[in-house]
Amino acid sequence: MSGEARVRLEGVSHRFGDVTALREMKLDVADGELLTLLGPSGCGKTTLLRIIAGFERPTTGRVLLAGEDVTDRPAHRRATNMVFQRSTLFPHLDVFGNVAFGLRVAGVPRAEQRERVREALQLVSLEGYEHRRSHELSGGQMQRIALARALVNRPQVLLLDEPLAALDLKIRLDMEAELRRVHRETGATFLYVTHDQREAMALSDRIVVMNAGAVEQVGTPAEVYGRPASTFAARFVGDANVLPVDVLDVSGDEVSVALAERRRQVTCAGARGGPAWLVLRPEAVQVGRLAREAGADELTGVVRDVAFRGTGFQYRIAVDALETELKAEAPASSPELAVDERVTVDWTPSACWLLPRDDDARAAGGPLPTRQETPA
Ligand SMILES: Nc1ncnc2c1ncn2[C@@H]1O[C@H](COP(=O)(O)OP(=O)(O)OP(=O)(O)O)[C@@H](O)[C@H]1O
Ligand SMILES: [Mg+2]
Repeated sequence: MSGEARVRLEGVSHRFGDVTALREMKLDVADGELLTLLGPSGCGKTTLLRIIAGFERPTTGRVLLAGEDVTDRPAHRRATNMVFQRSTLFPHLDVFGNVAFGLRVAGVPRAEQRERVREALQLVSLEGYEHRRSHELSGGQMQRIALARALVNRPQVLLLDEPLAALDLKIRLDMEAELRRVHRETGATFLYVTHDQREAMALSDRIVVMNAGAVEQVGTPAEVYGRPASTFAARFVGDANVLPVDVLDVSGDEVSVALAERRRQVTCAGARGGPAWLVLRPEAVQVGRLAREAGADELTGVVRDVAFRGTGFQYRIAVDALETELKAEAPASSPELAVDERVTVDWTPSACWLLPRDDDARAAGGPLPTRQETPA
């Protein structure tokens, strides 16, 4: 990351009574970046946004905005604005009154208010809606107005806490495209919270995977997806298969592993012998009908479940001698396999990833793929 971070968190921890919501969070957000905090319910995402906005003071640690320590500065004196999951508009005011509210409080002249509200409504594609009341708006329009209300202040940092969570999928997809455009056009730094990995991948420059109040991994969508730093990140992002294997031998990036008493190949840099986790994305698994005697090193199994998903079939396969069922995705053009059918299972060696299976190796920096740290 070049230049000064727009947002920097230094060792931010937060406790509510005896609940630890955040543990020693360290994070840099670059100017103009769209960074997503992704993690399960209760992992501390909202708490972190509230601390950056100044609605909550961290128990320990510091918050810096453009290099300035703002830990003790109240919310209204920070260059941040927040959009909430379910925004409430003032019912007695029309759209103009709601969007202009902050400007009016700040004493911005009436003519400038009108110009800036018009600009903000244009950004969210609702020009001409000034005189609507909140009960005359759809859920998606309401969230757009909430976004306009934050944008009208021209914040350097926009904090968005699951702003699309209450909307149905079709509107969410439209709104995602809209948010990307608004981000490009304003050049502001966006910190976006979601527990939806699909949304995080679609929107972000970088993703912060959070687990139990701590950072699990920071990286681009492709890095987090292709090279997860932990089994948690692998499972949470893209619902990967995580299988226990033994690394038999390593020759450069070519690794032989034992899985379910079969010897298979995996391409992965920096592996070493011993127990490991094999991370296998469902779309990297190839399933074929078993029409003959299986080869000695072939993985075989039985189809337990099949679901059609539009783009293809989703299978659950009980692999022989493997305890967990394997998730697999096949393109819609492939022949559909039926429940109870015998199948062979294979994968492209380069579509896999290995993680150390003993915690010590990871704590020590690990000889296997190291974590994706935020570049300094
Ligand atoms: N005001 C509060 N008082 C006590 N505990 C709180 C308070 N706010 C949050 N917590 C607790 O802190 C932890 C983190 O909560 P937070 O709201 O930040 O999670 P989140 O990641 O935003 O979850 P969600 O995805 O469900 O919105 C949770 O265990 C929660 O119960
Ligand atoms: Mg939350």
